[in-house]
Amino acid sequence: MKPSPRLSLNNGVLIDQLGFGLYKVPPGDAAGLVSMALEAGYRHFDTAAMYGNETGVGRGIGSLSGFSSHDDARGGSGESSPALSREDLFVTTKLWNDDQGYDATLRAFDTSMANLGLEYVDLYLIHWPCAQRGLYSESYRAMETLYREGKARAIGVSNFQPAHLDRLLQTAEVVPAVNQIELHPWLQQEELRTLHRGLGITTEAWSPLGRGQVLQDPVVLDIAAAHGRTAAQVILRWHVQLGNVAIPKASSHDRIGENLDVFDFSLDDVAMQALGGLERGFRTGSHPDSVN
Ligand SMILES: NC(=O)c1ccc[n+]([C@@H]2O[C@H](COP(=O)([O-])OP(=O)(O)OC[C@H]3O[C@@H](n4cnc5c(N)ncnc54)[C@H](OP(=O)(O)O)[C@@H]3O)[C@@H](O)[C@H]2O)c1
Repeated sequence: MKPSPRLSLNNGVLIDQLGFGLYKVPPGDAAGLVSMALEAGYRHFDTAAMYGNETGVGRGIGSLSGFSSHDDARGGSGESSPALSREDLFVTTKLWNDDQGYDATLRAFDTSMANLGLEYVDLYLIHWPCAQRGLYSESYRAMETLYREGKARAIGVSNFQPAHLDRLLQTAEVVPAVNQIELHPWLQQEELRTLHRGLGITTEAWSPLGRGQVLQDPVVLDIAAAHGRTAAQVILRWHVQLGNVAIPKASSHDRIGENLDVFDFSLDDVAMQALGGLERGFRTGSHPDSVN
C-alpha cells in the first residue's frame, strides 16, 4: 500500500495528509488500535485530552519503538515491524475547554505530555474556541510559548469560525498552522477553506466520513461502484484531492487498511464536481458557536 503523502504546514513541518482519529475510542482499546494502524502504515494520530485515551495512544505509538516513557510500551509488540523513531510519527492532541487560560493551558499541556509519554507533540490545538469564555487568545499565547520552547512543533486551532480566527489574529504572533473543522461532502466549509488558503492555514477535516453517515449517499455509492472502490475510499480520495488533511476513525483491521488505501487511484473532474454538489449544511457534531 502506498503511504500517505505529506503536506507542508506554514512553518515547514510536514504532516501526513491522512491520519488516524481517536475520538470515542475507549481508553483500553486505544493502544491496540494505534498499534494496528501503525502496522497498516498510518504515522499520524489525532487524540485530545477530552478523549481520555492519551495514555493508551502513547502506549500504542511506543509499541514499535523505544521512545515512549511508558514502561510497558518499550520494546512492545512490534517485533515483526521495523522500529520507528519519534521523528517518523505525527501526534496531535488538543487543549480541553475547561483548561483554557494562559497558566491552565501550560498545566494541561504538561498533563497531556505525561499521559502520552512524549517529550513533545507535533501539533497542539485549541479544541473549541468557547468564545463566551473569552480565553482563547490567552490560551493561544501559552501555546506560542510551548511552540517557542520546542514542546509543540506546530500549534493551531479547531472549530474556529471566521470571526474567531479574525480576533485571534489580532494578537497572535504565530499564525495557526491548522484549523481542524468538521468537513465532509455534506458540510464542505467553502468559506473557511477559502479563508484558510489566504492565511496559509491548513484545513484539517474532522468526521471526514460524516461519522459514517455520508457513506450511504447514492452519489458516493455510484462513484464508488464506477471506480471499483468503497464509499469511504471515494470520500477520503475527495479530501486528498481538495488538499485537506483528514483523520478518519475506524475500529477494525479491514477498515483501517481500507481507509489508507486511496493513493493509487484518482477521481476525475466529473466525479469531483458530483461530490462538490452534495453540500447540505449537515453537521454530525455541535456548531462551534454553541460550545462554551
Ligand atoms: N476537533 C474536534 O472537535 C473533533 C470532533 C470530532 C472528531 N474529531 C477527530 O476526527 C476523527 C474522525 O471523526 P469521527 O470519528 O467523528 O468520524 P469519521 O471518521 O467521519 O467516521 C467514523 C465512523 O465511520 C465508520 N467507518 C470508518 N471507516 C469506515 C469504512 N471504511 N467503512 C464503513 N464505515 C467506516 C466508523 O466505524 P467503526 O469505528 O465501527 O469502524 C465510525 O462509525 C475523530 O476520531 C477525532 O480524532 C475531532
